[in-house]
Amino acid sequence: MSSPALEKKNEKKIEALREKIRHHEYRYYVLDDPEISDADFDALMNELKRLEAEHPQLITPDSPTQRVGGKPREGFVKAKHSSPMLSLDNAYSEEELRDWERRVHELSGRTDIEYMCELKLDGMSLALVYSDGRLERGITRGDGSVGEDVTLNVRTVRSIPLTISTDKLKKAGITADFEVRGEMLMPLKSFRLMNEERERQELSVFANPRNATAGTVRQLEPSITAQRRMDFFAYMLLQDGQTFVDRQSKAMDALELAGFKVNPNRKLAKSLDEVWKFIQSWEAKREALPYEIDGIVIKVDRTAWQRELGFTGKAPRWAIAYKYAARGGVTEIEDILVQVGRTGKLTPVAALKPIPIGGTTVSRATLHNMDEIERLGVKIGDWVEVERGGDVIPKVVKVVEDDKEHPRGHKQFEMPGHCPVCGGNVVRTPGEVDHRCVNANCPAKLQGTILHFASRHVMNIDGLGEVLVNQLTERGLVKNVADLYKLTKDDLLLLERMGEKSAENVLAEIKASKKLPLERVIYGLGIRFVGERTAQFLAEHFGSLDAIMKASAEELEEVNEVGPRIAESIVEFFADEHNRKLVSDLRQARLIFTGQKKEKGTKLAGKTFVLTGTLVHHTRDEAKKMIEDAGGRVLASVSKKTDYVVAGSEAGSKLDKARELGVRVIGEEDLEGLLSD
Ligand code: IVH
Repeated sequence: MSSPALEKKNEKKIEALREKIRHHEYRYYVLDDPEISDADFDALMNELKRLEAEHPQLITPDSPTQRVGGKPREGFVKAKHSSPMLSLDNAYSEEELRDWERRVHELSGRTDIEYMCELKLDGMSLALVYSDGRLERGITRGDGSVGEDVTLNVRTVRSIPLTISTDKLKKAGITADFEVRGEMLMPLKSFRLMNEERERQELSVFANPRNATAGTVRQLEPSITAQRRMDFFAYMLLQDGQTFVDRQSKAMDALELAGFKVNPNRKLAKSLDEVWKFIQSWEAKREALPYEIDGIVIKVDRTAWQRELGFTGKAPRWAIAYKYAARGGVTEIEDILVQVGRTGKLTPVAALKPIPIGGTTVSRATLHNMDEIERLGVKIGDWVEVERGGDVIPKVVKVVEDDKEHPRGHKQFEMPGHCPVCGGNVVRTPGEVDHRCVNANCPAKLQGTILHFASRHVMNIDGLGEVLVNQLTERGLVKNVADLYKLTKDDLLLLERMGEKSAENVLAEIKASKKLPLERVIYGLGIRFVGERTAQFLAEHFGSLDAIMKASAEELEEVNEVGPRIAESIVEFFADEHNRKLVSDLRQARLIFTGQKKEKGTKLAGKTFVLTGTLVHHTRDEAKKMIEDAGGRVLASVSKKTDYVVAGSEAGSKLDKARELGVRVIGEEDLEGLLSD
């Protein structure tokens, strides 16, 4: 341990070195007029890195070693908050809410209180520190007084302004140094796409958007954060750690004027009755939101009165969170069944003692795969915690600790050696997580394919559920997805529990699906590795299904995010005779086979680029797409013919090669400049 005096000395020494480096950075980057050579500058920097490695407790986020664009190596730097980031007390009933109001009345000696009602967004709170109108730091809540600096990740969130014009600041009535607090969250669509992608890549999936947000905010690789399309809603405006606008409602308006995203679903209520109405109205409406909320936050609107009311421990007395009934619960696993999907994948599913969760009864929850069962350590007969998100399949989160009411189960689940649907062989390829049925004609595959095709995010054929699909396939009425478009009312009337009216509804739904755009049709074909996003990129790039069918693997690889594995899978799909017949049947049914090809710009026509290192504002894929959209081409390696090498931080050998060959090296900002010229 070093003594406080020695510690001070080290601190001083390090700070002096930092100042020196900052001065030279200023000369180099700002004035373009260096006083020392690059080598001398590097030597100073290395010296600082060495000292900081010896005294990690002395590292500060504003150190030149911790610049934006530099990838944190081992973790995040701690950062102190300007004032504590508090949590909220919860109310679970109208009664608890009224109790809270009573306390507010008593303590403030007033009854004419207006309340700001806001959605309680289910993500992770963050503090954004702006200095001189620029985003200086993004800090996680941490323990409330010290958080982690996640600036690099925060910068990748498009709804967070990196800089705010003086004009906007003026309109908002804010000076250039301020702090914004709010909620970082993962929209459900991003969550779905991310998990879908992870499933395709055979990685573990996130249990809910909140966990996914926490994982993403603390990602060490900013480009991964960028890909996950996070969002941020502002709800607090501070200066020197204090609120300064006289009402919360006005602070929200000011944040909006300054260019922040502020949730529009808010209301200034004149009484608790109005608050209660707001709470009730959002209970059902929340299902339709594109992100998750877990309650409503109620705040005393006038900040002067907030100050009078003050805090207890870690929560303010002037605010409370009304929490909706949790969309989770504890129940018993009665059995573990196995479902077979369209790719032949066997998914273990927990059959639960039915439990009401968020307005529906849940009796099934996915266990994903064998690895997950082992990770959870779950057995048949166990009591488990089950969670259901807005848009997600219920899942088992964990096994409840052994006690009198929740005894542990004993029966171990084993994956069957034969497909429970067709009796075909089940294999688990070494290195893969999943078990699969290898029988190409397994009826479960056909049923899964049709259910996928009909699902909400694909062709959105409402009413075409499991029971109906099973009947249609078992009776041989539907042998592929194109057969759906040949169904008649008489066909449907043959089925169990099918009346005239329902038959008409199903047919109307099937007919309506014909109007859905090209990307849905592509996604609906069920080509291996082609998810919603890839389907969208393919549609934009080629503009028609025919063009995609004709494309070679190399041509397919020109599409954003399409690599050799996906390209090959597409080529293979269309080389298959059955699939070609299927496409021709869908064409006859008059599904939409053409779309809007994204016209390429000409700004960068004929120019070739190579990307290297970590970019700050864009992921590599985004930069690639931007260049291609402007008519340029992005290649993997540097040659004499390369026009530009775009170098981010920690650029490697490609940068050396470019310098060697005399190829022009530009930064991310220069690229942005080229695109906007
Ligand atoms: S105000 C002192 N407003 O809820 C004020 N919080 O349980 C504290 N949250 O840590 C925060 N939406 O992450 C506030 N509109 C909102 C919110 C909100 C979500 C989260 C926030 C906070 C947690 C407290």
